[in-house]
Amino acid sequence: MQRRGFLKLFTSILGLGALGAFAYPLFRFLLPVESAAKVKSITLPKSEIPVNTTKDLMIGGTPSILVNTKEKGFLAFSKVCTHLGCLVKYDQERQIFICPCHAGIFDLEGNVVSGPPPKPLQKFAVKVEGDNLVIG
Ligand code: FES
Repeated sequence: MQRRGFLKLFTSILGLGALGAFAYPLFRFLLPVESAAKVKSITLPKSEIPVNTTKDLMIGGTPSILVNTKEKGFLAFSKVCTHLGCLVKYDQERQIFICPCHAGIFDLEGNVVSGPPPKPLQKFAVKVEGDNLVIG
């Protein structure tokens, strides 16, 4: 192989490698996110969530919260704020969800009370089956 041919082949291989190194992460970025946990529902014992307590969960890859209130029983919501995606925190005393990023406030039904969020929090179904809860 002549020197010129070798250099052409060598630079082509380097170019393809560089293109691949750039294209692969871009391709992965553009693919729809696969939830790490494809679990769409979760079963757990009711005894894990006494009245007036909460439990953080991952439901279908979404950070979520299960709330047990005396008045409304078990409620489950995505913690992802519908404004820009920050994670809301539950205020036990006021029974509201507060987004720390732009002070969005959601009520115990997940509805927007104030702030910039355009939509309610995603709510998950909670079924009581014997001593267990099925969420999602
Ligand atoms: S991200 Fe929650 S209010 Fe902006």
